[in-house]
Amino acid sequence: MLTLGIETSCDESSVALVLDGRQILANVIHSQTDHSKFGGVVPEVAGRVHLRKIVPVYRQALSEAGVSLDDVDLIAATMGPGLIGPLLVGLTFAKGLAFAVGKHFIGVHHIEGHIAANLLEHPDLQANHLTLIVSGGHTMLVEVRRFGSYEILGATRDDALGEAFDKVAKLMGLGYPGGARLDRLAQQGDPKYHRFPRALLKEGYQFSYSGLKTAVALFLAKLSETEFERHKADIAASFQEAAVSVVVEKTVRAALERDLHDVSISGGVAANSRLRVLLAERLSAIKRRLFYPSVELCTDNAAMIAAAGFYRYQDEGPGELAINAVPYLRLDE
Ligand SMILES: Nc1ncnc2c1ncn2[C@@H]1O[C@H](COP(=O)(O)OP(=O)(O)OP(=O)(O)O)[C@@H](O)[C@H]1O
Ligand SMILES: [Mg+2]
Repeated sequence: MLTLGIETSCDESSVALVLDGRQILANVIHSQTDHSKFGGVVPEVAGRVHLRKIVPVYRQALSEAGVSLDDVDLIAATMGPGLIGPLLVGLTFAKGLAFAVGKHFIGVHHIEGHIAANLLEHPDLQANHLTLIVSGGHTMLVEVRRFGSYEILGATRDDALGEAFDKVAKLMGLGYPGGARLDRLAQQGDPKYHRFPRALLKEGYQFSYSGLKTAVALFLAKLSETEFERHKADIAASFQEAAVSVVVEKTVRAALERDLHDVSISGGVAANSRLRVLLAERLSAIKRRLFYPSVELCTDNAAMIAAAGFYRYQDEGPGELAINAVPYLRLDE
Protein backbone atom coordinates (compact mmCIF):
# COMPACT_ATOMS: atom_id res chain seq x y z
CA MET A 1 0.00 0.00 0.00
CA LEU A 2 1.47 3.35 -1.08
CA THR A 3 1.00 6.33 1.26
CA LEU A 4 1.64 9.95 0.33
CA GLY A 5 2.56 11.88 3.49
CA ILE A 6 2.43 15.66 3.94
CA GLU A 7 3.98 17.63 6.82
CA THR A 8 3.67 21.42 7.28
CA SER A 9 3.11 21.90 11.02
CA CYS A 10 6.00 24.32 11.59
CA ASP A 11 8.85 25.37 9.32
CA GLU A 12 9.45 22.27 7.17
CA SER A 13 7.44 21.70 3.98
CA SER A 14 7.76 17.99 3.35
CA VAL A 15 6.15 15.39 1.11
CA ALA A 16 7.01 11.67 1.17
CA LEU A 17 6.02 8.40 -0.45
CA VAL A 18 6.18 5.35 1.80
CA LEU A 19 5.37 1.76 0.86
CA ASP A 20 3.57 -0.35 3.49
CA GLY A 21 4.63 1.97 6.34
CA ARG A 22 8.25 0.78 6.06
CA GLN A 23 9.93 1.56 2.76
CA ILE A 24 10.68 5.20 1.94
CA LEU A 25 10.51 5.84 -1.82
CA ALA A 26 10.99 9.60 -1.43
CA ASN A 27 11.13 12.04 1.49
CA VAL A 28 11.58 15.60 0.23
CA ILE A 29 12.11 18.20 2.97
CA HIS A 30 12.28 21.94 2.40
CA SER A 31 13.53 23.61 5.62
CA GLN A 32 12.66 27.29 5.76
CA THR A 33 15.66 29.52 6.35
CA ASP A 34 13.57 32.70 6.24
CA HIS A 35 13.24 32.79 10.06
CA SER A 36 16.90 32.89 11.11
CA LYS A 37 17.05 36.70 11.04
CA PHE A 38 14.12 36.84 13.50
CA GLY A 39 15.64 34.27 15.92
CA GLY A 40 12.49 32.13 15.87
CA VAL A 41 9.70 30.94 13.58
CA VAL A 42 7.33 33.73 12.44
CA PRO A 43 3.98 31.94 11.89
CA GLU A 44 2.72 34.27 9.16
CA VAL A 45 5.98 33.98 7.20
CA ALA A 46 5.98 30.18 7.64
CA GLY A 47 2.46 29.87 6.24
CA ARG A 48 3.34 31.91 3.17
CA VAL A 49 6.49 29.89 2.47
CA HIS A 50 4.51 26.64 2.75
CA LEU A 51 2.04 28.01 0.17
CA ARG A 52 4.92 28.69 -2.21
CA LYS A 53 6.70 25.39 -1.60
CA ILE A 54 4.01 22.73 -1.22
CA VAL A 55 3.37 22.11 -4.93
CA PRO A 56 7.06 22.00 -6.04
CA VAL A 57 7.94 19.74 -3.07
CA TYR A 58 4.98 17.45 -3.92
CA ARG A 59 6.05 17.23 -7.58
CA GLN A 60 9.65 16.51 -6.64
CA ALA A 61 8.57 13.71 -4.26
CA LEU A 62 6.49 11.96 -6.95
CA SER A 63 9.31 12.30 -9.44
CA GLU A 64 12.00 10.99 -7.02
CA ALA A 65 9.78 8.02 -6.13
CA GLY A 66 9.04 7.39 -9.81
CA VAL A 67 5.29 7.12 -9.19
CA SER A 68 2.19 9.08 -10.14
CA LEU A 69 -0.78 10.15 -8.01
CA ASP A 70 -2.71 7.23 -9.56
CA ASP A 71 -0.39 4.78 -7.78
CA VAL A 72 -1.12 6.30 -4.36
CA ASP A 73 -3.63 4.49 -2.09
CA LEU A 74 -3.73 6.80 0.93
CA ILE A 75 -3.00 10.49 1.56
CA ALA A 76 -1.92 11.34 5.13
CA ALA A 77 -1.32 14.86 6.44
CA THR A 78 -0.44 16.40 9.81
CA MET A 79 -3.59 17.89 11.42
CA GLY A 80 -1.92 19.13 14.67
CA PRO A 81 -0.37 20.14 16.94
CA GLY A 82 1.42 23.02 15.27
CA LEU A 83 0.96 26.51 13.88
CA ILE A 84 -2.54 26.98 12.47
CA GLY A 85 -1.55 28.75 9.21
CA PRO A 86 1.18 26.24 8.28
CA LEU A 87 -1.01 23.26 9.30
CA LEU A 88 -3.88 24.48 7.11
CA VAL A 89 -1.68 24.67 4.02
CA GLY A 90 -0.64 20.99 4.11
CA LEU A 91 -3.95 19.67 5.40
CA THR A 92 -6.04 21.55 2.85
CA PHE A 93 -3.69 20.55 0.03
CA ALA A 94 -3.96 16.88 1.12
CA LYS A 95 -7.74 16.98 1.38
CA GLY A 96 -8.01 18.72 -2.00
CA LEU A 97 -5.87 16.04 -3.66
CA ALA A 98 -7.80 13.20 -2.02
CA PHE A 99 -11.16 14.72 -2.99
CA ALA A 100 -10.12 15.48 -6.57
CA VAL A 101 -8.86 11.98 -7.37
CA GLY A 102 -11.04 9.95 -4.99
CA LYS A 103 -8.26 8.63 -2.71
CA HIS A 104 -8.56 7.75 0.96
CA PHE A 105 -7.40 10.47 3.38
CA ILE A 106 -6.28 10.42 7.01
CA GLY A 107 -5.26 13.18 9.46
CA VAL A 108 -2.14 12.49 11.56
CA HIS A 109 -1.04 13.66 15.02
CA HIS A 110 2.40 15.22 14.54
CA ILE A 111 3.86 13.59 17.67
CA GLU A 112 2.48 10.20 16.68
CA GLY A 113 4.46 10.86 13.49
CA HIS A 114 7.68 11.32 15.52
CA ILE A 115 6.92 8.06 17.37
CA ALA A 116 6.29 6.30 14.03
CA ALA A 117 9.76 7.31 12.75
CA ASN A 118 11.12 4.57 15.03
CA LEU A 119 8.58 1.97 13.87
CA LEU A 120 9.38 2.81 10.27
CA GLU A 121 13.07 2.04 10.69
CA HIS A 122 13.07 -0.62 13.43
CA PRO A 123 10.74 -3.55 12.70
CA ASP A 124 11.92 -5.34 15.86
CA LEU A 125 10.89 -2.53 18.26
CA GLN A 126 8.23 -4.03 20.56
CA ALA A 127 4.70 -2.60 20.22
CA ASN A 128 4.60 -1.97 23.99
CA HIS A 129 7.56 0.31 24.70
CA LEU A 130 8.66 3.51 26.39
CA THR A 131 9.35 6.58 24.28
CA LEU A 132 11.03 9.82 25.24
CA ILE A 133 9.71 12.58 22.99
CA VAL A 134 12.14 15.49 22.80
CA SER A 135 11.48 18.10 20.14
CA GLY A 136 11.20 21.84 19.59
CA GLY A 137 7.75 21.95 21.19
CA HIS A 138 7.52 18.83 23.38
CA THR A 139 9.32 16.99 26.18
CA MET A 140 7.33 13.95 27.28
CA LEU A 141 7.79 10.44 28.58
CA VAL A 142 5.14 8.21 27.07
CA GLU A 143 4.30 4.55 27.46
CA VAL A 144 3.20 3.27 24.05
CA ARG A 145 0.89 0.34 24.87
CA ARG A 146 0.54 -0.35 21.18
CA PHE A 147 0.52 2.02 18.22
CA GLY A 148 -2.39 4.46 18.79
CA SER A 149 -2.68 3.89 22.57
CA TYR A 150 -0.58 6.13 24.78
CA GLU A 151 -0.14 6.99 28.44
CA ILE A 152 1.69 10.25 29.11
CA LEU A 153 3.86 9.68 32.20
CA GLY A 154 5.06 13.27 32.40
CA ALA A 155 5.81 16.36 30.37
CA THR A 156 7.56 19.70 30.66
CA ARG A 157 6.03 22.43 32.78
CA ASP A 158 7.59 25.17 30.68
CA ASP A 159 10.19 25.04 27.89
CA ALA A 160 10.75 21.98 25.73
CA LEU A 161 14.24 20.47 25.54
CA GLY A 162 14.72 21.52 21.90
CA GLU A 163 13.56 25.02 22.82
CA ALA A 164 16.20 25.14 25.60
CA PHE A 165 18.88 24.08 23.10
CA ASP A 166 17.71 26.75 20.65
CA LYS A 167 17.54 29.51 23.28
CA VAL A 168 20.98 28.73 24.69
CA ALA A 169 22.42 28.47 21.16
CA LYS A 170 20.97 31.91 20.44
CA LEU A 171 22.47 33.35 23.67
CA MET A 172 25.83 31.97 22.56
CA GLY A 173 25.56 33.53 19.11
CA LEU A 174 25.20 30.23 17.25
CA GLY A 175 22.15 31.36 15.24
CA TYR A 176 18.66 29.88 15.00
CA PRO A 177 17.76 27.03 15.18
CA GLY A 178 21.02 26.20 16.91
CA GLY A 179 20.43 22.81 18.61
CA ALA A 180 22.50 20.82 16.12
CA ARG A 181 25.28 23.48 16.07
CA LEU A 182 25.43 23.50 19.87
CA ASP A 183 25.74 19.70 19.80
CA ARG A 184 28.72 19.94 17.39
CA LEU A 185 30.43 22.65 19.46
CA ALA A 186 29.89 20.69 22.69
CA GLN A 187 31.82 17.73 21.25
CA GLN A 188 35.04 19.75 21.65
CA GLY A 189 34.22 20.97 25.18
CA ASP A 190 34.53 19.81 28.78
CA PRO A 191 31.10 18.91 30.25
CA LYS A 192 32.55 19.32 33.78
CA TYR A 193 33.62 22.95 33.18
CA HIS A 194 30.57 24.29 35.04
CA ARG A 195 27.71 22.49 36.80
CA PHE A 196 24.40 23.93 35.58
CA PRO A 197 21.19 23.02 37.51
CA ARG A 198 19.31 19.77 36.82
CA ALA A 199 15.71 20.76 37.60
CA LEU A 200 13.25 18.24 39.11
CA LEU A 201 15.86 15.46 38.77
CA LYS A 202 14.40 13.26 41.49
CA GLU A 203 10.76 14.30 41.19
CA GLY A 204 8.43 12.13 39.12
CA TYR A 205 8.34 12.44 35.36
CA GLN A 206 7.84 16.19 35.08
CA PHE A 207 10.46 18.35 33.39
CA SER A 208 11.39 22.03 33.59
CA TYR A 209 13.90 23.70 31.29
CA SER A 210 13.27 27.44 31.67
CA GLY A 211 15.52 27.71 34.75
CA LEU A 212 18.45 26.06 32.97
CA LYS A 213 18.24 28.57 30.14
CA THR A 214 18.21 31.44 32.68
CA ALA A 215 21.17 29.90 34.56
CA VAL A 216 23.18 29.87 31.32
CA ALA A 217 22.14 33.47 30.56
CA LEU A 218 23.29 34.64 34.04
CA PHE A 219 26.55 32.70 33.73
CA LEU A 220 27.29 34.21 30.32
CA ALA A 221 26.54 37.72 31.59
CA LYS A 222 29.41 37.43 34.12
CA LEU A 223 32.02 36.34 31.57
CA SER A 224 34.39 38.65 29.74
CA GLU A 225 34.53 38.45 25.96
CA THR A 226 37.91 36.65 26.04
CA GLU A 227 36.75 34.13 28.69
CA PHE A 228 33.64 33.44 26.64
CA GLU A 229 35.67 32.85 23.47
CA ARG A 230 38.13 30.60 25.31
CA HIS A 231 35.42 28.48 26.98
CA LYS A 232 32.63 28.51 24.39
CA ALA A 233 32.81 24.77 23.76
CA ASP A 234 33.08 24.03 27.52
CA ILE A 235 29.92 26.06 28.21
CA ALA A 236 28.05 24.29 25.40
CA ALA A 237 29.18 20.90 26.74
CA SER A 238 28.26 21.81 30.34
CA PHE A 239 24.80 23.02 29.33
CA GLN A 240 24.23 19.93 27.20
CA GLU A 241 25.32 17.62 30.02
CA ALA A 242 22.82 19.22 32.44
CA ALA A 243 20.02 19.26 29.86
CA VAL A 244 20.49 15.68 28.73
CA SER A 245 21.16 14.16 32.19
CA VAL A 246 17.65 14.94 33.38
CA VAL A 247 15.84 13.21 30.50
CA VAL A 248 18.26 10.26 30.68
CA GLU A 249 17.73 9.83 34.44
CA LYS A 250 13.95 9.86 34.15
CA THR A 251 13.86 7.61 31.11
CA VAL A 252 15.97 4.98 32.88
CA ARG A 253 13.76 5.20 35.96
CA ALA A 254 10.56 4.88 33.89
CA ALA A 255 11.92 1.84 32.00
CA LEU A 256 12.55 0.14 35.36
CA GLU A 257 9.35 1.21 37.11
CA ARG A 258 7.16 0.34 34.13
CA ASP A 259 9.15 -2.83 33.43
CA LEU A 260 9.55 -1.97 29.75
CA HIS A 261 12.28 -3.68 27.78
CA ASP A 262 12.40 -1.44 24.70
CA VAL A 263 12.96 2.30 24.79
CA SER A 264 12.91 4.76 21.90
CA ILE A 265 13.68 8.46 21.54
CA SER A 266 11.64 10.52 19.12
CA GLY A 267 11.69 14.13 17.90
CA GLY A 268 14.43 16.54 16.79
CA VAL A 269 16.60 16.24 19.92
CA ALA A 270 16.79 12.45 19.37
CA ALA A 271 19.54 13.48 16.92
CA ASN A 272 21.67 14.77 19.83
CA SER A 273 24.94 12.86 20.03
CA ARG A 274 25.37 13.10 23.83
CA LEU A 275 21.77 12.02 24.51
CA ARG A 276 22.24 8.94 22.31
CA VAL A 277 25.53 7.92 23.96
CA LEU A 278 24.50 8.57 27.57
CA LEU A 279 21.10 6.89 27.26
CA ALA A 280 22.59 3.90 25.42
CA GLU A 281 25.16 3.42 28.22
CA ARG A 282 22.62 3.66 31.02
CA LEU A 283 20.03 1.43 29.33
CA SER A 284 22.51 -1.25 28.38
CA ALA A 285 23.57 -1.42 32.06
CA ILE A 286 19.99 -2.41 32.95
CA LYS A 287 19.64 -4.66 29.88
CA ARG A 288 17.15 -2.48 28.02
CA ARG A 289 17.29 -1.87 24.27
CA LEU A 290 17.49 1.67 22.86
CA PHE A 291 16.13 2.69 19.44
CA TYR A 292 16.35 6.04 17.69
CA PRO A 293 15.63 7.21 14.14
CA SER A 294 18.36 8.13 11.66
CA VAL A 295 19.20 11.85 11.93
CA GLU A 296 17.08 12.85 8.91
CA LEU A 297 13.99 11.23 10.42
CA CYS A 298 14.41 12.85 13.87
CA THR A 299 13.40 16.37 12.81
CA ASP A 300 10.17 17.13 10.96
CA ASN A 301 9.63 15.10 7.78
CA ALA A 302 6.71 13.63 5.87
CA ALA A 303 7.95 10.01 5.82
CA MET A 304 7.10 9.68 9.51
CA ILE A 305 3.65 11.20 8.83
CA ALA A 306 3.04 8.73 5.98
CA ALA A 307 4.08 5.84 8.25
CA ALA A 308 1.84 7.01 11.13
CA GLY A 309 -1.06 7.51 8.68
CA PHE A 310 -0.58 4.01 7.30
CA TYR A 311 -0.55 2.37 10.79
CA ARG A 312 -3.68 4.31 11.85
CA TYR A 313 -5.40 3.35 8.63
CA GLN A 314 -4.71 -0.33 9.36
CA ASP A 315 -6.61 0.06 12.65
CA GLU A 316 -9.34 2.53 11.81
CA GLY A 317 -9.75 2.82 8.05
CA PRO A 318 -9.91 6.18 6.29
CA GLY A 319 -10.54 9.49 8.07
CA GLU A 320 -13.09 12.18 7.32
CA LEU A 321 -12.38 14.92 4.78
CA ALA A 322 -14.29 17.27 7.10
CA ILE A 323 -11.59 17.32 9.82
CA ASN A 324 -9.97 20.62 10.72
CA ALA A 325 -6.45 21.53 11.82
CA VAL A 326 -6.04 21.58 15.61
CA PRO A 327 -3.11 23.71 16.92
CA TYR A 328 -3.26 22.14 20.42
CA LEU A 329 -3.90 18.44 20.06
CA ARG A 330 -3.15 16.00 22.88
CA LEU A 331 -1.55 12.65 22.13
CA ASP A 332 -3.75 10.69 24.54
CA GLU A 333 -7.12 12.02 23.35
N1 LIG B 1 21.75 17.40 17.38
C1 LIG B 1 20.83 18.09 18.06
N2 LIG B 1 21.01 18.38 19.36
C2 LIG B 1 20.08 19.07 20.05
N3 LIG B 1 18.96 19.54 19.51
C3 LIG B 1 18.73 19.30 18.22
C4 LIG B 1 19.64 18.56 17.43
N4 LIG B 1 19.13 18.47 16.16
C5 LIG B 1 17.94 19.12 16.18
N5 LIG B 1 17.70 19.62 17.41
C6 LIG B 1 16.54 20.41 17.85
O1 LIG B 1 15.35 19.74 17.51
C7 LIG B 1 14.29 20.71 17.38
C8 LIG B 1 13.53 20.46 16.11
O2 LIG B 1 12.87 19.23 16.25
P1 LIG B 1 11.45 18.97 15.64
O3 LIG B 1 11.53 19.27 14.18
O4 LIG B 1 11.03 17.64 16.02
O5 LIG B 1 10.65 20.08 16.45
P2 LIG B 1 9.31 20.80 16.11
O6 LIG B 1 8.61 20.06 15.04
O7 LIG B 1 9.62 22.24 15.93
O8 LIG B 1 8.50 20.61 17.44
P3 LIG B 1 7.28 19.58 17.72
O9 LIG B 1 7.64 18.31 17.02
O10 LIG B 1 7.25 19.47 19.19
O11 LIG B 1 6.08 20.22 17.14
C9 LIG B 1 14.94 22.07 17.40
O12 LIG B 1 14.75 22.63 18.68
C10 LIG B 1 16.42 21.74 17.16
O13 LIG B 1 17.32 22.67 17.70
MG1 LIG C 1 8.30 18.04 15.13
